[in-house]
Amino acid sequence: MAREAQVSNGSRVADFCAGLGGTVRYLAHKYGADVTGIELTPARVSGAQELTRRVGLHGTARIVEGNVMDVPLPDASMDAVVSQEAFCHIPDVKRAVAEAFRILRTDSRLAFTDWIANQPLTAADAQLMREGMAIQPLRTIPEYRSLVESVGLRVISTTDLTEEWGPILKERLAMYQLLREEARQAGTPMGHDAFHKSYIRFVDLIHERKMGGVRMVVTKLPRD
Ligand SMILES: C[S@@+](CC[C@H](N)C(=O)[O-])C[C@H]1O[C@@H](n2cnc3c(N)ncnc32)[C@H](O)[C@@H]1O
Repeated sequence: MAREAQVSNGSRVADFCAGLGGTVRYLAHKYGADVTGIELTPARVSGAQELTRRVGLHGTARIVEGNVMDVPLPDASMDAVVSQEAFCHIPDVKRAVAEAFRILRTDSRLAFTDWIANQPLTAADAQLMREGMAIQPLRTIPEYRSLVESVGLRVISTTDLTEEWGPILKERLAMYQLLREEARQAGTPMGHDAFHKSYIRFVDLIHERKMGGVRMVVTKLPRD
């Protein structure tokens, strides 16, 4: 994703939905980029800031509290925008992508990964995904292309990641189950049952190819 977004030493990069800041620190450490993560959840922002301080990257990596549908960064101030596995949680992805367009300089790139639906989910599956994992209604890959094009971004590539991500999800599920069992044996909280239940179905839906993963790389064209 970093390569596709053309991140290099000194690039100004925004990471949409930064979580605990793993991507932000990685790009600052590995590429020498100056990275700003935008994250909605205050507990994640403070956790991300603490981790960043502990590894001494706070000069070039920062996570700020904000909503990617209304980004607290100036127009044309970024050389790249990235986002990893997060747009599926946004109620209005078009607005978030329009915000990426606004803060990117002309000819620079947005590269992101996300979950997609190859076909509409059943009402029961959609409800499970929403309640357990806060997943909003999803798009197909062609719908995603139309969405980004509608805000003035040109698609450079779309890569179907479903095959690549399937085994990783199975490993993640096994790890969650191991941790739940360890927590149960220790008599400590085991995490949210709704998340666990939805994650099991999520892994099935990916395996059945009803859902999938995508990486999209798009570039900002000049306005007419
Ligand atoms: C699945 S996590 C991904 C985190 C990170 N990108 C990563 O790969 O580790 C999704 C993150 O998006 C954040 N988020 C959800 N809606 C958001 C919004 N409207 N603006 C900013 N962050 C948001 C959540 O708080 C959560 O931390």
